[in-house]
Amino acid sequence: MRPPPAFDPQFTIFGHRGAAGCAPENTLLGFHTAIAQGVSWIECDVQAHPEALLLFHDDLLRRTTGARGRLLDTPLAALKALDAGGGNTIPTLRETLTALQGKVGLNIELKAGDAVAERTGEALCLAVEGGWDPAQLLVSAFDHAVLQRFCLAAPQIPVAPLFDRPSPRMIEVARALDAAAIHIGLAVATPIVLSALSASGFPIHVYTVNQPTLAERLRERGVSGIFTDYPQRFILRD
Ligand code: G3P
Ligand code: MG
Repeated sequence: MRPPPAFDPQFTIFGHRGAAGCAPENTLLGFHTAIAQGVSWIECDVQAHPEALLLFHDDLLRRTTGARGRLLDTPLAALKALDAGGGNTIPTLRETLTALQGKVGLNIELKAGDAVAERTGEALCLAVEGGWDPAQLLVSAFDHAVLQRFCLAAPQIPVAPLFDRPSPRMIEVARALDAAAIHIGLAVATPIVLSALSASGFPIHVYTVNQPTLAERLRERGVSGIFTDYPQRFILRD
């Protein structure tokens, strides 16, 4: 029912939060920067605010906007008046889907908020009805119960569980979700873990890798792609 995502057959570079080392994270400018640097996939973080699905990483507004308070407790109009970096606003998922359709694959990480799984599922089903290729969508979460709920809400969209620490259940979790990939933190990516994971046949993607020599080592150990804040370091142009 779910199509395999259109990963790069050689090695997939995901622009982390867009291109977080080069442009304001989780903004349309950041996403367009990553695309201009040649990525075929972008990662972003989604939170279910009462008034809209918003792309934002932290619980608190301070680090990226300088404002006080929590994202989920602040009215949407006030959030939209904030500068998320370089004069860019905090984008909604809907604005992002409209801006990026047909341009790049989108890995949406479910972060927080009431019914984030169901609301994101509904938004992505609508996007697919509107022409988004489901093979260019991939939804992930550290909370695998949330990801399971997303699968029920949007059975045609591929998913990938996230792990920030090693677990003997990583492959079992991925199989239970019928996942398209497994996403792991660098701390998880030891030679022993990578050897077991790559034998499972799942594409393995590692976050956050900003050094090409490290990416090369991971690739030699069976990793299929990385998330990076600096896509241009990894993409060689003719
Ligand atoms: O999805 C990979 C990565 O983004 C997970 O960690 O904290 O950067 O959202 P974080
Ligand atoms: Mg993320």
